[in-house]
Amino acid sequence: MNHRVHPPDWRPDSWQAKPAAQQPVYPEPTALARVLQELRRPPPLVSSYEIESLRSQLAEAACGRRFLLQGGDCSETFADCQSAIIAAKLKILLQMSLVLTHDTRRPVIRVGRFAGQYAKPRSAEHETRDGLTLPVYRGDLVNRPDFDPAQRRPDPELLLRGYERAALTLNFIRALIDGGFADLHHPENWTLSFACAQPVAEAYRQRVAAVQEAVSFVETLTHAPIPQLQRVDFFTSHEALHLLYEEALTRQVPRRTGWYNLGTHFPWIGNRTRQIDGAHVEYCRGIRNPIAVKIGPPLSPAELVALCERLDPEREPGRLTLITRFGADAVTRELPPLVDALQRQEHRVLWVCDPMHGNTETTPSGFKTRRFERILLELEQTCQILHEAGLPLAGVHFELSGEDVTECLGGACGLSEADLTRDYRSPVDPRLNYEQSLEMALHLARLLRPNPATRVSLAGTSPTGAQPGSLGPQTPNL
Ligand code: PEP
Ligand code: CO
Repeated sequence: MNHRVHPPDWRPDSWQAKPAAQQPVYPEPTALARVLQELRRPPPLVSSYEIESLRSQLAEAACGRRFLLQGGDCSETFADCQSAIIAAKLKILLQMSLVLTHDTRRPVIRVGRFAGQYAKPRSAEHETRDGLTLPVYRGDLVNRPDFDPAQRRPDPELLLRGYERAALTLNFIRALIDGGFADLHHPENWTLSFACAQPVAEAYRQRVAAVQEAVSFVETLTHAPIPQLQRVDFFTSHEALHLLYEEALTRQVPRRTGWYNLGTHFPWIGNRTRQIDGAHVEYCRGIRNPIAVKIGPPLSPAELVALCERLDPEREPGRLTLITRFGADAVTRELPPLVDALQRQEHRVLWVCDPMHGNTETTPSGFKTRRFERILLELEQTCQILHEAGLPLAGVHFELSGEDVTECLGGACGLSEADLTRDYRSPVDPRLNYEQSLEMALHLARLLRPNPATRVSLAGTSPTGAQPGSLGPQTPNL
């Protein structure tokens, strides 16, 4: 294990001397100071042991021996801190990981975009409606969405509410997992109540049956239940955006060197705040957690190399993840020179694809949406680019919901523009719904299979091979 302390010129608050993008301006600094003081006192949400375990698992994913599945809401809301909604998120992630593990034979690292994903970067500081200008809504950690002066004023008390909601969410997740919710002997616990298109449902059912048979076979041979199958690890992640909040949760722990962000296992730097001399990079370079950076255009190879040097100068296995989000139109042009530049530096990062954020569009009726086939296309292209460079796709990052929402278009369910009005709930970006997520996992599993003949099977069908109502003609075992 590496015992690097932290860079000599770094402190949990050294970011405050750097330009910090996307930070709210609080009208009452004394109230803010009091809240921050209060936030420093309660116990942390996660432990350094869990963080170190995640880091060593990520190091294996970088070499293709594990696979990172990261997903959840674009923006969690306090109102959604409810048992059914949280359980549905766990269920879909468990179902997706069952498919991925079964089909690829690679253990999956499950990381939720949850228990703290409450702050959002925005494209403008203010919003004007009918001559009234107010601060933008920056997520439940900062202010409230209603277009009203009192609701939009950044309120430091929300930092405490966010910390508490994160704790409640995590407490429930831990209780479910410890209570056997994720037990592989009982995947029926994860079944969601929504109907699923027949090919998706059938493909999933076959995998559950195969896993159950394998478990029962091994347990028959060994005359004993396999206790390791009764629980799985779940890790949390969120964008490390609100730096005063992150700093307040940055702690030292007995018998370990360095500082840990104990508000989450796996913080990431957003695409809008990845400036090399900016405050977010400064904060993240000194913490011991594994960290991720979202990367999208414009980004030059030299800039990326400098960013990786800053965040991972010692090239620690599992330390740095790059989450690519270029969009299906740009990825084949933008990604190969970046991959090449890092390979020349022998910088072994995890390459993870977020096929959501580069493929957002607005419909004529004003809905922000994403198309299933564009998402899948970017995944395929990214897999192919990495494969040609001799690298594994180490993971994926999705915005998804365990609910039957109608936010993204397409998939086997054939969700159309007219359907978007039915149940569009996301306050920010559109998410794959339960069924689209499961279908995406089935496609992804095919892309990741070791046999190239089955992996690159979609080329030459439609642009994506995602045929409505099917999982593609060359998808075996469905
Ligand atoms: C997000 O993940 O919700 C987000 C804002 O992404 P990005 O930083 O990649 O734009
Ligand atoms: Co988003």
